[in-house]
Amino acid sequence: MDGEALQSPPRDSPASESPESLPRAAHFDSELEAWVFSRYADVLAAFHEPHLCPVGPRGEGQLSAEDRVLQAKTRTETLAAFPATKLAQWESELEPLAQRLAETLPVSVPVDVVADFARPWSLALAVRVTGADPADGPRLAALAAQVSASTADPEDAGLKAPAAAGGEELEQLLRNASQPMAGAAFVALSQTVPCLLANAWLILLNRPCDLERIRANPEILPRAVEELLRVAGLARILHRQAVADVQIGDVTIRSGQRVRLMLEVANHDPALFPDPHGLDLSRRGSCHFALGVGQHSCAAAALIRMATGVATKVFARNFVPTNLPDPVQWHGGSGFRWPAPVYAQRRSL
Ligand code: HEM
Repeated sequence: MDGEALQSPPRDSPASESPESLPRAAHFDSELEAWVFSRYADVLAAFHEPHLCPVGPRGEGQLSAEDRVLQAKTRTETLAAFPATKLAQWESELEPLAQRLAETLPVSVPVDVVADFARPWSLALAVRVTGADPADGPRLAALAAQVSASTADPEDAGLKAPAAAGGEELEQLLRNASQPMAGAAFVALSQTVPCLLANAWLILLNRPCDLERIRANPEILPRAVEELLRVAGLARILHRQAVADVQIGDVTIRSGQRVRLMLEVANHDPALFPDPHGLDLSRRGSCHFALGVGQHSCAAAALIRMATGVATKVFARNFVPTNLPDPVQWHGGSGFRWPAPVYAQRRSL
């Protein structure tokens, strides 16, 4: 469904408080043939249960014990590839790059900040982190887009073959990269990051006071990034399969049964987040699930936080809302969704 427009209100609007978005007690859904966890406490407990292993939506992709060891090794290598010193160095290069990019855009006319700012900057980020040849950037980005379209909309069977072919060619082109999981990293950085930024920036454009607050006080960014990840985070649902009988709260999950972790709903659980659908850049307290939690949490979380912060700082410095009366068009599917175009107006600094 990537590329097909879906109409939907901004995520932090009252319309997102529909009954389906409210957390419910853990229950077995016989149509889905899976347990459904949507309360924050249940999802958190599931993340910390070592006998619930990551799988695809229909239970596919379950790893053998041997593959699980290999996966843990890749995760450790990926974590080690992003030490604080390297992140600081990338940050010092990527912020001026974002500023230069913003300055190439016209002033006082509507600019699509997804196509003309978030995407080219994220591509530069992907090239920088993976060490790819910048000349290969456009080809790598096209292949990454094929992979990402299927991740965003896993129900669309027609996207699977192009995704597999794109993924293979991408791995081949990046075979000499020093970065572990270079292909997957390139996809996430060049494609997933701009979708995350599109979600976050649309929310900020609908809240000019918050955008102004970030512009005037960039030191609030670390906390603001956490709140933006909570309300605009891309991962909506994750899947697990039990490899032994496990007890979570009141329910017993039998070995072999599947569990759907409703991250988006849990990230808006009023039991943990007062005014859960509102954006509160000063919010303190519980950690969100946008980058997972526990032994399978995102190995690039620090990098994603840095990238979201840098890009949002430069975005807030350079852009203000525009009055363009465009309905928001949503793309993607059950994997993740993002709005595009997102229009803003560049300020003359
Ligand atoms: C905006 C971009 C990204 C988002 C939203 C994201 C989100 C996530 C989430 C939600 C998980 C938890 C999965 C689970 O519990 O089943 C995860 C795991 C992971 N991510 Fe990311 N991620 C992003 C970028 C990246 C990048 C760039 C890399 C690699 C360089 C990466 C590597 C990993 C790894 C290795 C895991 C652990 C998988 C496992 O142990 O099962 N992620 N990510």
